[in-house]
Amino acid sequence: MNKNLVSHPCTVNALQRSAQKGQRPFVLWLTGLSGAGKSTIANAVESALVKRGQHTYLLDGDNVRMGLCGDLGFSEEDRQENIRRISEVSKLFLDAGLIVITAFISPSIQDRAMARRIIGKQKFVEVFVDTPLEECERRDPKGLYIKARQGLIKNFTGIDAAYEEPANPQVRINTMDETLECSVSKVLKYIDEQSY
Ligand code: ADX
Repeated sequence: MNKNLVSHPCTVNALQRSAQKGQRPFVLWLTGLSGAGKSTIANAVESALVKRGQHTYLLDGDNVRMGLCGDLGFSEEDRQENIRRISEVSKLFLDAGLIVITAFISPSIQDRAMARRIIGKQKFVEVFVDTPLEECERRDPKGLYIKARQGLIKNFTGIDAAYEEPANPQVRINTMDETLECSVSKVLKYIDEQSY
């Protein structure tokens, strides 16, 4: 970071922004394999929160990679930079008073720890969308697993790049046995219990 930078206090602060929205901002950090159902759950949770009158923003892997992170690939370094940028953007949205939902594979325990550090652990809720690889591959909604198996995509998570499962996620979603409504309720129940 450049040494000649001085942070400038804003006249309107984070507390005022969140008070105006009548909510406590936090980040729901969804992690899981490609095809696990992160985006589906993220969208359904966001809809449920908006229905309750809350103010939200959804950051989703493929969308962010078409803009803010359009210059990044899938090497370990690039994935780390992807997660760093998303974390910093999430932090800005928290400052704006919003509830943020992120849907990124975020396969590295270390990178998710970095995200927790940047965002602040009180405001970081890790949600593990725990769908087994075999099921993600069976679903293959974007046809990417088949390409990865054919060697047409390199460093594909679960095939030739690692996914490190969270040891202690705050919420674990099982898309094999639960309905979407049930998964959404589980997330909402957790945030209500924690009085976010
Ligand atoms: S992350 O690993 O850096 O967190 P991110 O969630 O942003 O990944 O992007 C994942 C999406 O990019 C996947 O759902 C898939 O559509 C696409 N993708 C393209 N190449 C790869 C790859 N090598 N590994 C995983 N996902 C890939």
